Amino acid sequence: MQNDIQNLKNVALGQIIEAKTATELETLRISYLGRSGKLTKLIKEIKQIDKNERKQVGILANEAKNTIEKNLASQKNKLKESARVWFDATIPGKKPPQGHLHLVTKAISEIASVFEKLGFVRVRYPEVEWDWYAFEALNMPKNHPARDEWETFFIESREHKTLGQIALTPHTSSGQIREMERVGKPPIRMINIAKCYRRQSDVSHVPMFHQFEGLVVDRGISIAHLKGTLDYFAKNFFGPDRKTRLRPFHFQFTEPSFEVDVTCDVCKGKGCKLCTDGWLELGGAGMIHPIVLKNGGIDPKRFTGFAFGWGVERTYMMKSGLKIDDIRLLYSSDLRFLTQF
Ligand code: DAH
Repeated sequence: MQNDIQNLKNVALGQIIEAKTATELETLRISYLGRSGKLTKLIKEIKQIDKNERKQVGILANEAKNTIEKNLASQKNKLKESARVWFDATIPGKKPPQGHLHLVTKAISEIASVFEKLGFVRVRYPEVEWDWYAFEALNMPKNHPARDEWETFFIESREHKTLGQIALTPHTSSGQIREMERVGKPPIRMINIAKCYRRQSDVSHVPMFHQFEGLVVDRGISIAHLKGTLDYFAKNFFGPDRKTRLRPFHFQFTEPSFEVDVTCDVCKGKGCKLCTDGWLELGGAGMIHPIVLKNGGIDPKRFTGFAFGWGVERTYMMKSGLKIDDIRLLYSSDLRFLTQF
């Protein structure tokens, strides 16, 4: 009996020292000293042992009980003490990292909201497209040399009799004919913002990028409407003091065709290292070619229209004054880069 008490005490003290929380200590207290605890049970048995031994055992049991109680209390204090040391309420909290929209997603919603104010309808057309919509209907017949500018990814598949091969959309202009077909009868005011694909990859090109394409068709649409729309966009997107200009150019699907420039924000149009004589190039635009209207089922004698198509990444960088040395970083998923914006 004496040995049992001694052992029980030793085991209990060992467990008390190991305890890490107040709850653990309480569980230990109950398991030894509670109503049906291990020590309590032994104490109850003392009555049954030999009279001579009883006193001795009683003293031992009492001592074991006191020691266990004392150790429980001191361990409890120790835990409180150490909690006080590592819990410093004045240390600033650790904030969980917070994500944000990708630069290009932000650009797309800003661009869309400017055009939506003018009543343009935001649409999206297939990223995997028929040759007819991407080229042929836009006045670029098969083997036309103009096609070379769009370094296109073609998909290996059986050619469709009238729609031709399948390709990854190389530009958002393929949405022009689709929108004419969808709306049927003008007026049309479309803003198509989508992914485009070309076989190109260097510091200023990525194989997947974004374009936004505007298309307006109605009675009596003229270059003045195009210029007015571009000015509205430039002032709303880049800032109230920015101006645009149209420079003659050539595209198969517009006649006349232009390149659109916007005044440089650094030199305010005076000319500096970052621009060409005060101007920065935005992208292409023009009056829709009658053949394109016809291919979209619209009578070019009754209706005219304009279109423009620019790169989202490029336009956004011009707005923010961001100079990204390698545009491929935008799509690298490198958080060290992305969290900066
Ligand atoms: N689709 C042309 C490109 O990717 C850009 C473009 C030029 C779009 C003139 C147009 C336009 O709508 O009128 O380079």
